[in-house]
Amino acid sequence: MTRKKIDLSVDFCGVKFNNPFLLSSSPVSNSAEMVANAFEAGWSGVAFKTLNSDRVRIVHPSPRMNPYHYGSKRLVGLQNVEQISDRPLKDNLLDFLYLKKNYPDRVIISSIMGFSNEEWAYLAKASEDNGADMLELNFSCPHMTVEGSGHKVGQANHLIEKFTETVKRAVSIPVLAKMTPNITDMTEPALYAKQGGADGIAAINTVRGISQIGLDDWTARPKVAGIGAISGTSGPAVKPIGLRFIADLAKCEQLGLPLSGQGGIETWIDALEYLLLGSTTLQVTTGIIHYGYRIVEDLIEGLSDYMAERNIERVADLVGKALPTLQETDKFDLDRQGTAHYDVERCVGCGQCLVVCNDSAGQALEWDAEKRRPRLIEDKCLSCMVCSFVCPVTDLITYKEQPKNWQRQETEVMGKDLEGQLKLEVCK
Ligand SMILES: Cc1cc2nc3c(=O)[nH]c(=O)nc-3n(C[C@H](O)[C@H](O)[C@H](O)COP(=O)(O)O)c2cc1C
Repeated sequence: MTRKKIDLSVDFCGVKFNNPFLLSSSPVSNSAEMVANAFEAGWSGVAFKTLNSDRVRIVHPSPRMNPYHYGSKRLVGLQNVEQISDRPLKDNLLDFLYLKKNYPDRVIISSIMGFSNEEWAYLAKASEDNGADMLELNFSCPHMTVEGSGHKVGQANHLIEKFTETVKRAVSIPVLAKMTPNITDMTEPALYAKQGGADGIAAINTVRGISQIGLDDWTARPKVAGIGAISGTSGPAVKPIGLRFIADLAKCEQLGLPLSGQGGIETWIDALEYLLLGSTTLQVTTGIIHYGYRIVEDLIEGLSDYMAERNIERVADLVGKALPTLQETDKFDLDRQGTAHYDVERCVGCGQCLVVCNDSAGQALEWDAEKRRPRLIEDKCLSCMVCSFVCPVTDLITYKEQPKNWQRQETEVMGKDLEGQLKLEVCK
């Protein structure tokens, strides 16, 4: 069967990308040689490893990363203390010239971080003059060894506005502000970036975290000459946080800026979720660190097949499509309740549903010892669905909606005969 060719191109801040998939700023986008390989594999653009102006000497801690393995699952996350680029500015700019000459249809986003107002302007102008199509202002590295930089700037709204304004005055190419997730509400700093003239928002940078402590030396990883630190977590472990911030930004009508989503994208399904919540372009680091540049083939193929199956012609038609049904929890209709439904014929009799229902849910299952099968007492079922999460048979346990105003049994109270001893004083 010949696969229908889908046009995955997107317009982002007035710049055309052949597809929404970009390298994010990190070791995967550290040099022209690497980025050229990525472009050959199919990536449509790059947010180059964050440029430094050479005034502040950058030295990466050693070691600079640690894997977050969980049980048999490898690299569910990544911990890093890497700094911005330690390469001379000139080398990075020569790389831009090389890439622009050899890959004119790909987009170069120059990620920059200044340590003064003048440096922001200098890096911005130098990037534009040497072929960058866009800028990304790094307001978000969570573990800079230079005091008062990175995510510290990203938490100081007046600095976000000031530096964005400075950069906008220096260049005419579109400017993205890359935000830190290490705050409660990202819309506020994003609005300051908009006030400063930002054309779009990129999110998220890494989440401040600790994913491993050495059991023998009691030191957080990565351990740098005997010392650990709270540092940046990335990869699938942070995807729910990334999606949440993108949704917050996309729903903020006052903001109304295009978004470049990132945080835990490894598969076309992750990518699609970011699109559905409002991202137009998608950036990847940890997925590449785990699997290499060629994951872009799966990203392109998976998204293309999904769109072909549903007759969706443009990526833009997917952007933000999950937002209308994304509401605050007070909008839930609590008169609509449901229960689990068991297709018992397919049950393998492992009993895992019984254990979780007894130990973490409504004790709504009885065990038919003869048939070695569970039996659901429907009006005790809490519809929490934890039984389905542990069932090894796909879709054996599904959710069944009950008629409106259907009621479940109240939970049994064991201490009924102790009512006389109940102490309930009202606090004044
Ligand atoms: C080792 C490492 C170095 C990074 N360096 C930078 C950087 O220099 N500038 C920047 O804006 N983000 C940097 N990031 C953050 C990534 O660009 C990205 O925002 C983050 O890792 C989330 O995406 P992911 O889950 O696909 O990795 C770095 C991430 C890692 C893992």
